[in-house]
Amino acid sequence: MAEHFDLPANGSFSFVGRTALITGGGRGVGEAIAREIHAGGGKVAVSDVDLAVAQQVADSLDPGGASAIALPLDVREKADFLAARDRIVADWGKVDIVVNNAGFAKRTPTQDITPEEFDAIVQINMRSVFLSCQIFSEHMREQGYGRIVNITSLAGQNGGTVASPHYAASKAGAIMLTKYFARYLAGSGVTVNAIAPGPIDTAKARLSAEQIARVEGEVPAGRFMAVSEIAAAAALLASDRGGFFVGATLDMNGGLYLR
Ligand SMILES: NC(=O)c1ccc[n+]([C@@H]2O[C@H](COP(=O)([O-])OP(=O)(O)OC[C@H]3O[C@@H](n4cnc5c(N)ncnc54)[C@H](O)[C@@H]3O)[C@@H](O)[C@H]2O)c1
Repeated sequence: MAEHFDLPANGSFSFVGRTALITGGGRGVGEAIAREIHAGGGKVAVSDVDLAVAQQVADSLDPGGASAIALPLDVREKADFLAARDRIVADWGKVDIVVNNAGFAKRTPTQDITPEEFDAIVQINMRSVFLSCQIFSEHMREQGYGRIVNITSLAGQNGGTVASPHYAASKAGAIMLTKYFARYLAGSGVTVNAIAPGPIDTAKARLSAEQIARVEGEVPAGRFMAVSEIAAAAALLASDRGGFFVGATLDMNGGLYLR
């Protein structure tokens, strides 16, 4: 088995003067991205459907709440996005960066997927990206600056390693929405880009030892991605210096899918 490693947030990119909203920021990838942007000097609103975990992350970054706050945000709810925007603008004056990270994978055999389950997965993984881009693209266009980063999946590019069809289709839709909004906003100072990860360390908790070994065997790099690695890529896309990425999807899959 490949050696496990992870790296602390190191603030390689400067976010001084910038404000960021991260969805699903209470743990995993979202938490790592929140830590990376905060380490670069940014103010971060850590949001999650589970406010308690978001609060823990925000408190660990800044117990005083000056540079990190926790917000309740269920990405299925347009009203929650609007409330988050209004709260960040009230506290910090503007929203510069939005990372649409919250997502939900359910592995169900194809013939067992009900119409209701299909819709639920699409709501969390794809409609959420539309709602967020719809709301924040307007805010960012008006202020002439913005960075939107959508966490999609290898499953949305080639079906992935262990994904079910509704998850794969929802992530493919999120990649297309990234391109749509990127082109609509190009030239306005606002960029929209995506990252398409293969297996990440966070998935191990949901897999059996056999499944973990099988995935490690399939990935040419021989391991899962560390959350610090995707956080670094998200920081690049979210930074001032990421301004020439327009509608890109960064492949981070350890060699599973080369194009
Ligand atoms: N883990 C992987 O191997 C992998 C691979 C490819 C893509 N991804 C994607 O990366 C992103 C992060 O994955 P992770 O492994 O850190 O996930 P995770 O399950 O560890 O964390 C997800 C977070 O999102 C929150 N969340 C769930 N539903 C929500 C909702 N409706 N509204 C707001 N927040 C909600 C959860 O409370 C949790 O804090 C997801 O979009 C996922 O689909 C993950």
